[in-house]
Amino acid sequence: MSKPPFQSGRPRGLYVRTFGCQMNEYDSLRVQRLLAPLGYVPVNDIGEADVIFLNTCSVREKAEQKVHSFLGSLRRLKKAKPHLKIIAGGCVAQQLGEKLLGRFDHLDLVIGTKGVGSIGQMLQQVQDSGGRLTCMPGEESGGPGVPEIFPGGSVTAPVTIMQGCNNYCTYCIVPYVRGSERSRTASEILDEIRRLEDSGVKEVLLLGQNVNSYGRGLDEKCTFVDLLRRIRVETGIARIRFTTSHPKDLTNELIQCFAEIDTLCKHLHLPVQAGSDRVLERMNRGYTAAGYIEKINRLRLICPEIALTSDIIVGFPGETEKDFAKTMELLEQVQFDNLFSFRYSDRPGTAAASYTDKVDPDEAALRLVQLQSYQADVTLRKNLAEVGSDRDVLVEGPSRASNGQMSGRTTHNRIVNFDAPLPSSGQILRVKITFAYSHSLKGDVIVCPNAQSG
Ligand code: SAH
Ligand code: SF4
Ligand code: F3S
Repeated sequence: MSKPPFQSGRPRGLYVRTFGCQMNEYDSLRVQRLLAPLGYVPVNDIGEADVIFLNTCSVREKAEQKVHSFLGSLRRLKKAKPHLKIIAGGCVAQQLGEKLLGRFDHLDLVIGTKGVGSIGQMLQQVQDSGGRLTCMPGEESGGPGVPEIFPGGSVTAPVTIMQGCNNYCTYCIVPYVRGSERSRTASEILDEIRRLEDSGVKEVLLLGQNVNSYGRGLDEKCTFVDLLRRIRVETGIARIRFTTSHPKDLTNELIQCFAEIDTLCKHLHLPVQAGSDRVLERMNRGYTAAGYIEKINRLRLICPEIALTSDIIVGFPGETEKDFAKTMELLEQVQFDNLFSFRYSDRPGTAAASYTDKVDPDEAALRLVQLQSYQADVTLRKNLAEVGSDRDVLVEGPSRASNGQMSGRTTHNRIVNFDAPLPSSGQILRVKITFAYSHSLKGDVIVCPNAQSG
């Protein structure tokens, strides 16, 4: 048993800052859970921190720059508070390792993506020795990712079902910083979901870089579809979501799940990246634009109301005006409910970084503006079409606008804000949609199950 790091017994402040994707959000939750038994309590004010954990992302150059500037800004804080320990984890930490310690002399500990499980031990060592360390294990350390405690009051929770990626899309750094694909066992995942359920969680978000290849290499056979079915049957969780799925691995059986599994939310995030076959091939994506559209058509046949979102990269090396026009054509054809679009950015060590036919950055920026303004219209039009409909909304908590309203999501992943007659977090309420904005909806509660009790 390790002793608590401080003798005084006073809880110590842990400030966590997370950049990047939901996998990092999950790891940040894990860090909070792992450090809680050592006396660390999460704080929202960085000034109250005794330990800062910075979870980093290197998927695009901009994301990495943000990490560097945030780290730089901590120098003054460390000077004013020498006992403060600063830890960097996540993908930049994995990529740079020791170099990060060299670049920032106020950084105490660098933990690679497979080292999160050892954070308690590592922090203890740093506290005891006063030295600066790196922890870059080649294998997952600290055992499986089953959390030890669950944050109370959370309505939705991420659950990592697999880590890493074997796809090697030519632009992407993820396989280099997250390692090759490995799946957690179904029993571990189901156990985690049941424990989340016991703590009041109503919706789980199954996470992985390519969730629909889940199960490869497991001793006990379980495909992603098997896992979804088991969650439906063996847990009482009200809603299931998942992200991200790869178009090449989207099987008919998985498409069928949107009709078969009633607790599976009617939303699919299916990154297409580009609409030109030439570009898709150079990206090593493993499908054509026509193949992608065919899958979308099948999805809509099985589940006509399904909401679809996607990721797009513009300005990939060698992308011509004509290639870009094909991406716009695909958007026109599919009419996504929402889109995440990015300008291509070189990532060290990836195949595309060595391609010599780079697109002029100003030209790529123009393409991005054109694409985003087109999609903004489509998204707003889709939101406007919701006005007048009645939707089941899982209430997550007070609205971000802090105007006394509550906020939740529809099965289609649309945010709805509304006046709540009574405390309603964690309930599914029937809401009439009355107003549409570009990023959210407003509505009135129609059926409130608490109404008779008070
Ligand atoms: N595993 C997911 C997403 C991983 S990263 C998938 O297969 O799609 C999230 C998104 O970042 C990607 O979908 C892609 O659109 C974008 N992205 C990744 N590398 C990028 C790069 N080098 N430049 C610009 N965008 C990138
Ligand atoms: Fe990156 Fe491609 Fe893997 Fe997604 S599937 S994480 S884009 S390599
Ligand atoms: Fe970023 Fe790493 Fe996620 S690079 S997108 S934090 S897997």
